[in-house]
Amino acid sequence: MYIVQIASECAPVIKAGGLGDVVYGLSRDIERRNHTLEVILPMYDCLKYDKIWNLHIAYEHLNVPWYGGTIHTSVYCGWVDGLQCFFIQPHSNDNFFNRGCYYGNNDDYMRFTFFSKAALEFLLATGKRPDIIHCHDWQTGLVPVMLFEQYSWLGMGDVRVCFTIHNFKHQGVAGKDILWATRLNNEPHFFSYDRLRDNFNPFGLNLMKGGIVYSNHVNTVSPHHAWEARYTDVSYGLGHTLDVHQSKFNGILNGIDYKTWNPEEDTHVPHHFSIDDLSGKLKNKKALRDRLLLRDEKKPIVAFIGRLDQQKGVELVHHSIYYCLRNNAQFVLLGSPTGREINEHFWREKHNLNDSPDCHLELGFDEDLAHLIYAGADMIVVPSSFEPCGLTQMIGLRYGTVPVVRGVGGLVDTVFDKDYDQFHEEEERNGYVFYQNDRPALESALERAIGLWHHYPLEFQKLQKQGMKYDYSWKRSGQEYIDLYDKIRHKEEVVED
Ligand code: GLC
Repeated sequence: MYIVQIASECAPVIKAGGLGDVVYGLSRDIERRNHTLEVILPMYDCLKYDKIWNLHIAYEHLNVPWYGGTIHTSVYCGWVDGLQCFFIQPHSNDNFFNRGCYYGNNDDYMRFTFFSKAALEFLLATGKRPDIIHCHDWQTGLVPVMLFEQYSWLGMGDVRVCFTIHNFKHQGVAGKDILWATRLNNEPHFFSYDRLRDNFNPFGLNLMKGGIVYSNHVNTVSPHHAWEARYTDVSYGLGHTLDVHQSKFNGILNGIDYKTWNPEEDTHVPHHFSIDDLSGKLKNKKALRDRLLLRDEKKPIVAFIGRLDQQKGVELVHHSIYYCLRNNAQFVLLGSPTGREINEHFWREKHNLNDSPDCHLELGFDEDLAHLIYAGADMIVVPSSFEPCGLTQMIGLRYGTVPVVRGVGGLVDTVFDKDYDQFHEEEERNGYVFYQNDRPALESALERAIGLWHHYPLEFQKLQKQGMKYDYSWKRSGQEYIDLYDKIRHKEEVVED
């Protein structure tokens, strides 16, 4: 099969969050199965250019229709870890991607509308006719809309689109100007509630909704989140649209890249270990303690790694620091602050707590430290308010770091706790799950985890090893996507599990 991914991120060259990891990991897996795969990305000025090999111009004079004229655009080609990537670079003063960052501009919806249009123009101009275009999140929601409405007459009628939603919270609500910019001129047609009109903003066009309505298949990144999206409020107003399109909607669990995350070969950490011998993990714990000046050796280390925002349960993260310090455990946090208030708050906490022998807070991102924390910590806490999939709990499991998670979204599909979920057998247990979004629930899960570590070390080790047995590599999820591509290619209807 010939598959083209169109996305706003792909690790390691552009990564703001899990989306970048998933586009990368899935693409690598598809490639390993000997399919033809290409990735189309914006050419941001903040790309990690040192990670792109042999960057050269692939198409110099692409004239992308835009309002009444065109925008002169170049497309570059380069390899990222063996993946063939194309980068869209518009010229002229409309240069949308020279902003020093990926998101956060007022005209983001225009920038990514242009990106979507240019990606299709590039395929058209070069005669590329993929079997499948795989789009991700609102930034590429207009791709299937334009493909169906404008390009299917131009020889692209057989191209099928799979649209993956990584986060319903960001839907890309745009002004009507995108219709004029892209020449999707029939306003009454697009501006109806069953097409693109936003349910909350009566003047807005919802790009994610467009992706849902027009794609041949839509999925989110775990089966449980697919269920939540239809039956609870986590799809932020798109539940009805998903109901209407339920026959082409499902959830496919993400994987993690088992090459990047491999305790037996991880080059970022000093000691390697495996399920048969965890002694290397203990040595990493010592290395982590030495690096972060945690002095007490008779306590478990509880960690948090991730964005400090409402989705990740920032309030409960904060509470778990103090809970652990009061209850015979140490706490390590590697967090990326997302707003000024949170930022200032955690800087103050860092200032207050980093002298403590049991705690270290690190703000920002540090790849080496992240690996060392996964490899050295005993538990990882993931108290998200919602979580389409979540990757940190899967990385934790791979490194024998027991996850303590809130039972939402993909966390439900990956972490199993006997006490709360009687459907799982004792030997299937791999972590702790709590359900209520409040402090007592979090505390009771932490209490059980910390208690087991102190009083039943052998049982704790058994739990670590049970977690390490799970396979959350791309092997399984990659196959699911390939089967799905195959189905939509042959136009069979895909029905939710
Ligand atoms: C988003 C979601 C996260 C998911 C990731 C990759 O960041 O919030 O849950 O794991 O996308 O799909």
